Amino acid sequence: MSRRVFSGVQPTGTLHIGNYLGAIQQFTELQQEEDCLFCIVDLHALTVPQDPVVLREATLKTAGIYLASGIDPKKATVFIQSSVGAHAELAWFLNCIATFGELNRMTQFKEKSTNQETVSSALFTYPVLMAADILLYQTDVVPVGDDQKQHLELSRDIAQRFNHRYGETFKVPEPKILGVGSRIMGLDDASKKMSKSADTDLNRIELLDSPDVIRKKIKRAVTDSGRDVYYDEENKAAVSNLMTIYSRFSGDSLDTIQERYAGKGYGDFKKDLAEVVVEGLRPLQGRYEELSREPQYLLDILKEGAEKAGAIAEQTMKDVKEKVGIVRL
Ligand code: TYM
Repeated sequence: MSRRVFSGVQPTGTLHIGNYLGAIQQFTELQQEEDCLFCIVDLHALTVPQDPVVLREATLKTAGIYLASGIDPKKATVFIQSSVGAHAELAWFLNCIATFGELNRMTQFKEKSTNQETVSSALFTYPVLMAADILLYQTDVVPVGDDQKQHLELSRDIAQRFNHRYGETFKVPEPKILGVGSRIMGLDDASKKMSKSADTDLNRIELLDSPDVIRKKIKRAVTDSGRDVYYDEENKAAVSNLMTIYSRFSGDSLDTIQERYAGKGYGDFKKDLAEVVVEGLRPLQGRYEELSREPQYLLDILKEGAEKAGAIAEQTMKDVKEKVGIVRL
């Protein structure tokens, strides 16, 4: 029997190759065998201030990138989080299960709240909404990048605690985190992950960057001291990160890449890497271009996705309400 898979991406900024290599590529593989739901988590984006026009555009853009990356709406359910009201509803019930102490230990909250003038209470309870996303669908597997590990642990704890208190209600989900590529680092600073919210766009290669922009960003990417292209995450973090990107886009192993560039410098390697990424993204960009000519098609997919997801969510909500003692009218 196929397993239920759920994952989500926030519609903030344009997605980058970290999102693609860490998460979205896994989605396209999993949809072949498993029962997949892929969500655009717009409610999560609202935990920090958003311009309404920009948020609406980014939500549709993210949906377009899902499809352009190869997510097939005939195989997987693609939908917008806010179009299934049960996400926010279940989050409330789970907020009554999660504790202040465990939320206070979330490293991503600490990172995102430091040096901010004001911090919404939703940013603090963000991981509980994420648990609701996952548990609502009785999810077996959650493909994510390495940075979501702690949030996944929390989702498991919340599920187990609820089940213990009220009886078997939720499946306890397993994370699926890749080895190579689960944490793509910034091009400008290999000690920090590639991120949609980094200060400079030299930090990341966006999935819709033009070939020339990709070439420019790779040319300017930081490298390490020395001139040899070899993999050593500890002492050559920047070059190792570039090799990971090369490997994931070309399918060549790290050893093969190392051999190919033995005795050559960073310059040759970076030039080839730029072409590998340009070619790797070309099909995605072409499909995105085609999809943008048919906006209604995308809306139809999202509407159908919301109906399918909503029907599953309704079953879980019925059970949850019954278990906690909500009066049925
Ligand atoms: P988000 O939108 O920040 O990122 C989307 C996915 O991309 C992965 N990712 C990376 N992988 C490798 N290297 C990187 N530099 C990198 N940056 C991001 C993320 O791990 C993620 O898998 N909280 C989630 C969204 C979410 C979610 C969910 C995910 C909400 N509900 C339920 C799974 C299940 C987030 O902010 O992802």
